[in-house]
Amino acid sequence: MKKYLFTPGPVPVPSEVLIEMAKPIIHHRTAEFESIFAEVREGLKYVYETEQEVFILAASGTGAMEASVANTLSRGDKALVVNGGKFGERWGKICRAYGVEVEELMVEWGKEVDPADIEKALQADPLISAVLVQASETSTGVKHPTKEIAEITGKRDDVILIVDGITGVGVFPLPFDKWGIDVLVGGSQKAFMLPPGLSFAAMSDKAWKFYEKSNLPKFYFDFKTALKNAEKNTTTFTPAVTLIIGLAAVLRRFMAEGRENMHARHAKLALATREAMRAIGVEPFVQDTPSTALTTVIAPPEIGAGKVIASLRDDYGITVAGGQDQAKGKIFRISHIGDIDKTDILSIVAAIESVLDGLGYDFNFGAATKKAAKILSED
Ligand SMILES: Cc1ncc(COP(=O)(O)O)c(C=O)c1O
Repeated sequence: MKKYLFTPGPVPVPSEVLIEMAKPIIHHRTAEFESIFAEVREGLKYVYETEQEVFILAASGTGAMEASVANTLSRGDKALVVNGGKFGERWGKICRAYGVEVEELMVEWGKEVDPADIEKALQADPLISAVLVQASETSTGVKHPTKEIAEITGKRDDVILIVDGITGVGVFPLPFDKWGIDVLVGGSQKAFMLPPGLSFAAMSDKAWKFYEKSNLPKFYFDFKTALKNAEKNTTTFTPAVTLIIGLAAVLRRFMAEGRENMHARHAKLALATREAMRAIGVEPFVQDTPSTALTTVIAPPEIGAGKVIASLRDDYGITVAGGQDQAKGKIFRISHIGDIDKTDILSIVAAIESVLDGLGYDFNFGAATKKAAKILSED
């Protein structure tokens, strides 16, 4: 059976990118690689909307999350962590592992954080020196208000904003310089349409001031060493050559498409999916501020998400993501990142209808596909 990947990472990789990565490996200490690296550095700055260096780490997204903490904070520092899902929880675990004290701002799953609560927490505790949040909390499908949070941290010289943009960068606007984000993390197996294995991070001038004071251990992921080498179009250690060659191909595609069109593409696929599900009474898990990287829906409770996920896999070769922890068995998550287009969305929506019908769900069969087709055909 043909396989279809609709998970919010890993994602389908475009065939022209796979072909680039299948070519014979080249050595990294060569003019050829340096020229590819120079191109990639520029492309990443375009996607991040920054003049700063965007570091390329040979690690999955969590590696760049950890590096963001290690390069900016110090033992005994206090961090305010927005925890509204599994990845927010991970910020807390990383900070604690490095001896950074954590104050968690718990947010109900499926809801965005209220920036006023961040302001309040910072006012109540002047010792907090960092706010850590997800731009897009992939475990629930929520988009947190990064811009509004950056306005709060931007007013303070002694607080930095560290944003996990792993399913945000390239998906919706997160202009690094304009909004005053201090550290922004991205990941290859997300909007970057690559296999897992690379992650990205940019640092603001304020974050570099924090670097100078930071006493957390760092070696492999030391951003200052990485910066010195990047400026010479090289890397400190052996880079993930194949993935970086793939990244160059992806960034060429992004440049041709344009940043705004990339964001619009995700928004359209998300809108079509969300409204299609609504048309058949399958409610979104996130009502107010859904991320456009994925659509999280509540499976009809009488059926449960497990059966829907299994039938999509067994009858259609489609992999979607389930829920974790409190959302396990309740929700499933349909990705819009990677090499996913409107035909893919029509396919999955139709497959979901067929699966729900097979599982005895009582609904207007065809209404979801019709809705999706209508939205996707609009300019
Ligand atoms: C928002 C977010 N943060 C962090 C991660 C962890 O990234 P990785 O699994 O690449 O380490 C993911 C992966 O799904 C994610 O979506």
